Amino acid sequence: EQNPEIRKGLAGVVVDTTAISSVNPETNSLLYRGYPVQELAARCSFEEVAYLLWHGELPGDDDLEAFEALERGQRDLAPNVRRAIDDIPTTAHPMDVLRTAVSVIGADDADSEFGALADPFAVVYPKALRLLAQLPAIVAYDQRRRHGLPYVAPRDDLDYSSNFLHMTFGEVPDAVVVDAFRVSLVLYAEHSFNASTFTARVIASTLSDVYSAVTGAIGALKGPLHGGANEAVMVAFEEIGSADKAEAWLDDALASKRKIMGFGHRVYKNGDSRVPTMRASLETLVEHYDRPDVLDLYTALEQAMETRKGIKPNLDYPSGPAYNLMGFDTQTFTPLFAAARVSGWTAHIIEQLSSNALIRPLSQYNGPAERHLA
Ligand code: CMC
Repeated sequence: EQNPEIRKGLAGVVVDTTAISSVNPETNSLLYRGYPVQELAARCSFEEVAYLLWHGELPGDDDLEAFEALERGQRDLAPNVRRAIDDIPTTAHPMDVLRTAVSVIGADDADSEFGALADPFAVVYPKALRLLAQLPAIVAYDQRRRHGLPYVAPRDDLDYSSNFLHMTFGEVPDAVVVDAFRVSLVLYAEHSFNASTFTARVIASTLSDVYSAVTGAIGALKGPLHGGANEAVMVAFEEIGSADKAEAWLDDALASKRKIMGFGHRVYKNGDSRVPTMRASLETLVEHYDRPDVLDLYTALEQAMETRKGIKPNLDYPSGPAYNLMGFDTQTFTPLFAAARVSGWTAHIIEQLSSNALIRPLSQYNGPAERHLA
């Protein structure tokens, strides 16, 4: 019998306060610093959203200009980081490459320690901004080298989203594609105490360092129950093939007790608040690339899941096929999630350090009773 005080998976446990975002499953809402994520996705650049998460307020014009200059100025990868990536076999998952590259960037930073922590923001912010600026280069270059393509240098005349796509594909795609990509980044940027963010906070709480916290968060995000789901959705779509096969595929999968990736959520039980916004972006992509078959399959599986299990999709469900249409490799989807979420992770690291308590829960022992060596 489980002790009623034990909450497996910390389900329903409130571990701290946060001013960064709030998820309200009752009203199906997600607010970043008080703003509904749908409004931010409709009106703001990814840079403005990252600024909001870090500073607590949206930037004024001058603030934004200064912030953009800082971000654009450090997008390029140091030669040793590129060499470290080159040394990793392409059989490695891109999340392993990202995790390693972030670790190398951290090892390069001679001043990586948190220090006295009189002002956590001042210590963490420059490192957070550096990671935010450089993650696209890692993700883009890793996809390119897998196709035998060379590194594309960043362009400082482009915003974050356009530059990310430019560095991946060697050109800036049509505006509707850039916009759908921007929307996905805004939606992925932050989501309260999810597993990877909590991991980052646990690591920060030991007064380790930003890079260790972000590296750990990348490890947590990789799993298919968390960020790895967007990749797994695409694998399922490929397995199914077409809309007419969705029901039979689902019945088989459920009969063999498989979890259907991209469905369900620990907090939202009645639908993920981010899905309608991302689905709308997916629709624009379907139209742009003239791929109605993608939306047909999307809808068929969603409906079948609703009838069989009454479980609704989460953000990874529309974002998976959206990234596929944009031309990203399936294994690159979760690194894209990480590139966006580094904004939220680092905002949480700053918040954790601002009123730090070592995160160290208890366990109830259920092994053998005390015994002694013969
Ligand atoms: N497919 C099939 N059954 C499901 C699914 C699913 N995707 N999600 C929940 N269920 C069932 C589950 O089998 C269980 O049924 P029963 O009570 O009969 O055993 C019931 O619903 C409750 O599920 P649970 O796994 O105990 O709930 P949880 O809160 O621990 O799980 C979850 C949340 C996200 C881990 C789970 O829904 C899941 O594994 N989903 C698939 C992976 C996924 O899409 N993850 C992305 C999450 S959101 C974005 C992100 O963080 O990346």
